[in-house]
Amino acid sequence: MNKPVEVLALAFSPRKGGNSDILLDEFLRGAREAGAEVKLYAARDLNVRACLECGECDAAGECVIRDDMDELYPLLINTKRIVVASPIFFYGLPSGSKAIVDRTQALWNRVRLNPELRRKDGRGFFIGVGATRGKNLFEGTSLTIKYFLDAIGLPMEFESLTYRRVEAKAVVKDHPTALREVFAAGKNFAHGMP
Ligand SMILES: Cc1cc2nc3c(=O)[nH]c(=O)nc-3n(C[C@H](O)[C@H](O)[C@H](O)COP(=O)(O)O)c2cc1C
Repeated sequence: MNKPVEVLALAFSPRKGGNSDILLDEFLRGAREAGAEVKLYAARDLNVRACLECGECDAAGECVIRDDMDELYPLLINTKRIVVASPIFFYGLPSGSKAIVDRTQALWNRVRLNPELRRKDGRGFFIGVGATRGKNLFEGTSLTIKYFLDAIGLPMEFESLTYRRVEAKAVVKDHPTALREVFAAGKNFAHGMP
């Protein structure tokens, strides 16, 4: 029997049960249905301090801060499929979740020093929601996700589903297509590579 595909899911909203959580749950329901084994972490439940830019990770790609990143680092550097779901806050990621991204600077160094850590057959996926209809609503965050994926050794190109004009808690449930789309995307995400 094939080993199930492992998917690491990161929920970046501080609002539990909000729009991005709902979409991520549906995405993961699709992935599980297709046989994936899912590990889900919510940034709001983690204690992750801000990057100090101390430079200590330059030498060996190890962060000197001891907190919940200790649990995430091995998953971020080993998993081939990573999905991030986030609301847009001021055209970027919510602050608590941005700390996780910033702290992957240590992994950027680790990959730089050990290029074999790159998973060329890996895949990233981004689910984004925001309240407004602005043309550039997801631009900044998409760049952040792109370089986050690069830092952890995954290809920079990623798939995404983003939804504008989604604001009140759980209102995305009324969206005409979103739940169906993320479910199908989750299923697809779990297919393909061993
Ligand atoms: C601090 C804060 C900043 C926000 N900034 C933006 C923004 O720049 N653009 C936007 O369209 N929506 C913005 N929003 C709205 C959220 O992106 C929106 O309500 C989203 O649906 C929340 O998703 P969630 O339920 O998964 O947390 C902001 C909300 C908060 C609380």
